[in-house]
Formats: sequence, structure tokens, C-alpha cells
Amino acid sequence: MKRLLALALLLMTVLSCAQAQESDYTPADTNILVACFSATGNTWPLAEYAAAYLHADLFPIEPETPYTQDHLDYGDPDCRANREMSDETSRPALAATVENMAQYDTVILAFPIWWGQAPRLIETFVEAHDLRGKTVLTFCTSASSGYGRSGEILSALTDETVNWMEGARFPAGTTAEEMADWLKEKGIAPFGPQTSFER
Ligand SMILES: Cc1cc2nc3c(=O)[nH]c(=O)nc-3n(C[C@H](O)[C@H](O)[C@H](O)COP(=O)(O)O)c2cc1C
Repeated sequence: MKRLLALALLLMTVLSCAQAQESDYTPADTNILVACFSATGNTWPLAEYAAAYLHADLFPIEPETPYTQDHLDYGDPDCRANREMSDETSRPALAATVENMAQYDTVILAFPIWWGQAPRLIETFVEAHDLRGKTVLTFCTSASSGYGRSGEILSALTDETVNWMEGARFPAGTTAEEMADWLKEKGIAPFGPQTSFER
């Protein structure tokens, strides 16, 4: 009985880790998309703040095979995440793609830093979508590292018609106000008629 309970607890922990975010994506009338991969839930709230401020759609980038806690144990050289990151050609499959990508002019890409760069899943996402002619702004969270080579690596996957803006790193726990201030600094205006508060 005790074993069964322990097993149920373990299963719940793994599931809550894999489902760190709400994944219902319903496109609205907006030309801004925030797309976010968050393996352990730190980046997701920041993406929510960005989407709320910008009146943007919010798309959860998820792998076809969810990451378990063991997959993310980056102290283990052989864990799934580390194996993916040590292979430049690794492209984990996506659970879903953004079918209406043509609707958006601006795409905000959010992700955690894995070994100084964006997870390979973000490379899969960039290659799976037609971003030509769009403005792309990226941000990440990390334990301590900076934004690293993320922008350089991702922008090399698209052609020169994509306007890649310089991205930034935020700590977990960044507030909605801090995120809105950064987006203002970057000159990304919310979609639709602006209120005097937003200006
Ligand atoms: C495989 C892996 C590699 C990581 N590499 C780094 C790193 O190089 N530098 C760092 O500061 N944090 C690193 N981290 C920590 C995450 O960037 C940090 O916890 C982030 O906030 C997680 O965001 P998430 O909860 O949205 O997935 C790594 C985490 C994992 C799972």
C-alpha cells in the first residue's frame, strides 16, 4: 500500500512538472504572438505577463514527448536535455505548431537557458514556422547565466527578412511591471487601441 502511495505521488510530481503551464491556445484578433517553452514553470508566468500587456495570443511550445524530471536532471551528463544540447542537429519534435502564424507580425519567443543557449526545441519551433518578414523578440530565464548565444544561434536559422531584436535574460520571479517596462523600452506597442495607462 505504501509503495502504491509513493508511486502515485511520484506520478503526480512528474505530471505537474510536465504540465507546468495551461496549454489551451485560442487565437484572438491580434497581430502579436507570445510563444513560450517552460520546462519547470519559471518562464511561463513572464510569458503570460508579456501576452497580457501586449494583448497578444499566448502559445505554449511543448515537446511531443514531455520532459520528465529525470530528463531535466542536468547534473547527469546522460539526461535527455543534456544529450539534446550536446548534439547541434538535435530537433525534438513539437506537440503542435502554430497553424495561423501568418496572422502575426511580431513574435515574442520565451524559453529557459539550457547550457548557455535556447533549448533545441526552440530551434525546432523556429524551423517549423515561416517567420519571414516578421519581427522576433526573444527573452529567457536562467539560474544565473546571461542570454548567451541564443539570439545568434536562432537568427542563423532564418533568412535576412526576419527582424531579430536583441533579447534579454530575466530571473524567475520577474514581475508583470518589469516585463511591461522592458517591452516599452523595446518599442513593442500593445495590439489595438491603447489606453492612457499603457502609453
Ligand atoms: C538542461 C538544463 C540546462 C540548464 N543550463 C543552465 C545554464 O547554462 N545557465 C543557467 O543559469 N541556468 C541553466 N539552467 C536552469 C534554467 O535555465 C532555469 O532554471 C530556468 O529558469 C528554467 O525555466 P523554466 O522553469 O521555464 O523551464 C538549466 C536547466 C536545465 C534543465
